[in-house]
Amino acid sequence: MAGSPPPPPGAVAAAHVSLDPYVERYAARTHGMRASEIRALFAVANRPEVVSLAGGMPFTAALPLDSVGVMVADLLRTAGASALQYTGGQGDPVLREQITQVMALEGITASPDDVVVTVGSQQALDLVSRVFLDPGDVVLAEAPSYVGALGTFSSAQAEVVHVAMDNDGLIPAALQEALDRLAARGRRAKLLYTVPNYHNPAGVSMSEPRRDEVLAIARSAGVLVLEDNPYGLLGFDEEPRRALRARTSDEVLYLGSFSKTISPGLRVGWVLAPHAVREKLVLASEAQVLCPPTFSGAIVSAYLRTQPWLEQVKVFRELYRERRDATLSALAQHFPAGATWTRPTGGFYVWVTLPEGLDSKAMLPRAVHARVAYVPGTGFYADGGGGRHLRLSYCFPEPDRIREGVRRLAAVLSEESELRSVFGPHATAPSGSKDRGRRAQTPAPDLA
Ligand SMILES: Cc1ncc(COP(=O)(O)O)c(C=O)c1O
Repeated sequence: MAGSPPPPPGAVAAAHVSLDPYVERYAARTHGMRASEIRALFAVANRPEVVSLAGGMPFTAALPLDSVGVMVADLLRTAGASALQYTGGQGDPVLREQITQVMALEGITASPDDVVVTVGSQQALDLVSRVFLDPGDVVLAEAPSYVGALGTFSSAQAEVVHVAMDNDGLIPAALQEALDRLAARGRRAKLLYTVPNYHNPAGVSMSEPRRDEVLAIARSAGVLVLEDNPYGLLGFDEEPRRALRARTSDEVLYLGSFSKTISPGLRVGWVLAPHAVREKLVLASEAQVLCPPTFSGAIVSAYLRTQPWLEQVKVFRELYRERRDATLSALAQHFPAGATWTRPTGGFYVWVTLPEGLDSKAMLPRAVHARVAYVPGTGFYADGGGGRHLRLSYCFPEPDRIREGVRRLAAVLSEESELRSVFGPHATAPSGSKDRGRRAQTPAPDLA
């Protein structure tokens, strides 16, 4: 570069030195794998004195653990040998039948034959990527998008093209524009990834009319829709919304999970696919894990059969509603003018837009020092966006802790704004390195 000073002796050589002796041998796809830069910080954030509004962890302490304990003991006593055995690669047929009944709550009619049980919906994301994505393929995804999905697409060496959303979810006109832009470059998208209900991280839901519009646009462009719906039964004041998959069966791959309605530790999710695709997904899953976890599947199956599970979902909804209310009222009370946020009607997350000029990633160390943690918005973009946003999760902390956390965070925001007004934009060390966020980060499980 003309005018740049020469590098100090040794600097060029140092740039090529890697501490990892295997670096030359890794597969190209590992280049898309990157641990979250903020993982280390979250080791600190998990200390008890820090209010963590970061992790999307369901509040499993609210489960009826005593009766679940009795149920599991019964399961082992009466059917232990088969519950601890391998099962078919597609998962237990009885569980698949029960899954179709769960999906019926969102208007889906499906055959158990088209359901593949997976290790959480995260494995389902990976299976769909393996079956449909070649390196360089385009995936359309909401801006922002679930970090674990971005990590999976990145591992598949796909290119993510973000599509704008607003308070009514994905914007159909923006989807059409994205498709037109791709077509002008001679490209087309393979998949449209969407979380239509209680979006992670945006906290919004796709409106009823938009659901049909989005499907119509995807259909005419020949793009498969990947509907990821772990939160659909967690609406606070509304009946479950009608799934995209309830409107069409041919163009939608539907992902479900028991992680948010029962337990994430069981790792039981599923994918419902068009019949022709289902076999490929089973083969891909067998190559990965042989079969989904039989014991976890048997526990879920027994829980659905013997426990008042929908009553328990109601308990969760009430609990999360109270925490959502605590978050929104604390934000209204403490946050400065210029900050805005979404108002979720279900799920776990509020998406905050910071006042102009603030950088959520640069601010995070100061926030953790002030004993509050959140996830910076950059983790939810594959293209370096999101610096002015952050995600707050209200699912885990008690309401009083939430109020205290938001109060602490508001104080950090004020300090940041003051620093900027006294010393200018560099005072808050923006995180804008050149390739910031270019590669999706792998989420730590407790940040998902
Ligand atoms: C939108 C979304 N999809 C998928 C997952 C993964 O869930 P699972 O525990 O079923 O793998 C999560 C977890 O937070 C999520 O928020």
